[in-house]
This record gives sequence, C-alpha cells and structure tokens, in this order.
Amino acid sequence: MNFLKKLKMFNRVLNNHSTQLRHVEDVYSLELLNKMTGSENYIPFTSMSLRPYALAFLLNEMLINQRKSVIEFGAGISTIMMARLAKKNKLPAKIISVEENQDWVNVVKNILVDEGIDGYVEIIYAPVVRRNFKGIENHWYEDKKLKEILKNSAPFDLVMIDGPTAFNEKLALSRYYAMPFLFESLANEHVIFLDDVNRNGEKMAMTHWGKDYGKKFSVYAGTLGVCYVGNHYESNPIKFIDVDYFN
Ligand SMILES: C[S@@+](CC[C@H](N)C(=O)[O-])C[C@H]1O[C@@H](n2cnc3c(N)ncnc32)[C@H](O)[C@@H]1O
Repeated sequence: MNFLKKLKMFNRVLNNHSTQLRHVEDVYSLELLNKMTGSENYIPFTSMSLRPYALAFLLNEMLINQRKSVIEFGAGISTIMMARLAKKNKLPAKIISVEENQDWVNVVKNILVDEGIDGYVEIIYAPVVRRNFKGIENHWYEDKKLKEILKNSAPFDLVMIDGPTAFNEKLALSRYYAMPFLFESLANEHVIFLDDVNRNGEKMAMTHWGKDYGKKFSVYAGTLGVCYVGNHYESNPIKFIDVDYFN
C-alpha cells in the first residue's frame, strides 16, 4: 500500500466514527451502567438523554478522579445517575444542575425525591433568554441567580454541558457562552464535557474556546468533547478504532 493511501486511511480512521461503532460503545456502556439502573425506579431514557457511553464516562470521572464540585447544564438521566452514584459509592460530591424548563425540573426532582437522593443535587430552574455575546447570537440561561450560585460554590472540577437546547441554526452556538460564564469558577484541575460535538454549533464552540480561553477539546466516540486540565486517571469507558478501514 502506498504512503498516500495509508495517510488517507488514517485520516478516515481519525475523523470517522461510524454509527455501528456508536452502537457497540453504547451497548457495552449500558452493561457497565447495569448497577446504576438495575434495582431502582424506571428512568426515562430518551433521544434527548446523554448516550450510555457519555453517562459511563461521566460517572467514571466522578468516581476515579474524585470530582467533588460538579455543575451540569441540562438536567435529566445524567442528574439522576450522578446522584445515584454519589449515594451508592458514598462520594462527597455536590452537584448543581441548571435546567431551562420548569416542568422538566419537576420530572427530574420527583424521581430524586422518590429515591431519597435529592440531597445530592441542587436543581436550579433558569429560563433561557436570547442574547448576543461578542457578536455571537445565542440563548443562555437567565444568569442573575446563577451568578449568585457560582459565588457560593467551590470551584468546579467537573462540568457537563448538555444544554441549553440548541434546536436551530440561529441558536447553534448557544453553548458557547458556557465557557465565558464558568471560566473564572473552574478548579485548578478539572474536566469539561461538551455533548453533541458532532453538530456544527458545538464544533464551532470548541474552536472558539480553544482560541479565546486556551481550552483544547478532544472528540471521544464521535459525539463527546472532553477537555482535561491537570492530572487525571484514564476514565474513558471504551476506546475503539474502526478496524474495517484497514481492510
Ligand atoms: C440534551 S437535553 C439534557 C439531557 C440530560 N443531560 C440527560 O442526560 O438526560 C437538553 C434539554 O432538553 C430538555 N429535555 C430533556 N429531556 C427531554 C425530553 N424527553 N423531551 C423534551 N425535552 C427534553 C430539557 O430542558 C433539557 O435541559
């Protein structure tokens, strides 16, 4: 095989993450999550939820790298799983979850209360407002209340950005604002997750964050952006390359 062909092949391997691979990652990760889903209430996994792969990565981070001050944007299964883990493994974690929809706050809160794990999480209802930041149009959580919370929180060592909803092209860069909002409130050592990085808006947000804030993200499993700062153990649940490309 000539050099150019090999180079093209590697490029495809690095840049292509097939749907089949995602399925394998998710099925494998669901098995890992078995302990977290087995004995409790049924919880509403939907197309809006984090992929099982991303959930397993998130829980591994909390456990292995002992993240103690967590903030997430976009509540749901992720919130319930983190609270379950904190209880099950007796982790001294404090979780803040920022949510734009009051009805959805109630759905998630009811499950947490029912399982007696609401004490691990503070869900903050913050409706989104349309705004323009440095020429970038977006919508972001009404942040007066949020800024108060940041002032009273320990610096965050785990950030999960899975909201706000960015459902059309005009709002595609909505999650960009997470970085200017949080930058001063990050712990010296931390990890930041950004979900849906297969979408253009999230790709652009990562590029801007690299330039504006020096935060370098790597894409894991095709859909999850991960930025590590400081020492950490490996927490990626499963690592694949698509061997079919070599045939
Ligand atoms: C990507 S979702 C967040 C999902 C959450 N992190 C999880 O793992 O379940 C972003 C927003 O969509 C909304 N949402 C969540 N689940 C939903 C559902 N089943 N149907 C409609 N909207 C939903 C909520 O307002 C949430 O903040």
